[in-house]
Amino acid sequence: MIDPMPSRPRRNRSSAAMRDLMREIQVNKTDLIYPVFVREGAGTSEEIGTMPGIHRHSLDHLVRHLDEVVELGVRAVALFPVLGDDRKDRTASESVREEGLMQTSIRELKSRFPDLLLITDVAMDPYSSDGHDGLVSDDGQILNDETLPILADMAVSQARAGADIVAPSDMMDGRVAVIRDALDDEGFTNVSICSYSAKYASAFYGPFRDALDSAPRSGDKKTYQMDPANLNEALREVELDIAEGADIVMVKPAGAYLDVISEIAGISPLPIAAYQVSGEFAMIRYASQAGAIDEEAAMLESLVAIKRAGADMIFTYFAPEAAKLLS
Ligand code: PBG
Repeated sequence: MIDPMPSRPRRNRSSAAMRDLMREIQVNKTDLIYPVFVREGAGTSEEIGTMPGIHRHSLDHLVRHLDEVVELGVRAVALFPVLGDDRKDRTASESVREEGLMQTSIRELKSRFPDLLLITDVAMDPYSSDGHDGLVSDDGQILNDETLPILADMAVSQARAGADIVAPSDMMDGRVAVIRDALDDEGFTNVSICSYSAKYASAFYGPFRDALDSAPRSGDKKTYQMDPANLNEALREVELDIAEGADIVMVKPAGAYLDVISEIAGISPLPIAAYQVSGEFAMIRYASQAGAIDEEAAMLESLVAIKRAGADMIFTYFAPEAAKLLS
């Protein structure tokens, strides 16, 4: 026997009430952002092959799905369009069409759910025949400065349709400044920018690219998305986005980058978002379907870890399930 032992950490874990009292952080329903996929047509919901339980919804089905999701207390969604190849071209011209899928969906969702925050993705890949986030030159380069006006027009078009927050996920240099300027010029001074500041070239986006059929047709995204080995570079990206007028900075993916979230929390005066991406979702879902882990427990643990690292808000495909459990 050790004598004396004045410090016994287990005292603070001795009962559920004691543990609740001692808890340092908490995930709230209001921290959750639910990414959703909208497709053309009506009357269909198509399950994504590599994301069991997640669907590409036609707009009418998405409205019905969100009726339930809003009822559970989720207050923000991130909208991604799924377009057929016939809608895609080199310049992503579909991304600014007033009657395009994205614009139509934003208007409809905003009128059905006026209090639901609508976050829209700004990047070329869902609309690009090249499957890249930027404009591709004839010799296969991703053209930074030529992409910027396309992104600015896309953001303005989404704001005009009713987006509350535009979220550039493209990783072109200087895009936050150009988007802020364009929004302000058009009178959308109240539309926020959530910048995917530290977005890594990650293998964990695989299921999302299945969902959108948006994988690069050639090459990879490594000349614009970040090297997973780099942390200092993430701080630089965040500093630039703050200077350019971002309102929220994001780290993506989340689970394998908790150190990046934590370091950014240390330097950023802005709120921090983290994106628990499609591959992270799929790992938990498939492992639980195989009976290897308890899905609810693993999901909540993963969200707590992301919050503990320093995220203020979390994009997660588990948002409805998590909201149910956090009620
Ligand atoms: C592309 C974009 C991607 C995701 C969100 N926006 C994929 C990519 O960069 O290829 C990934 C989200 C996820 O995996 O859940 N602009």
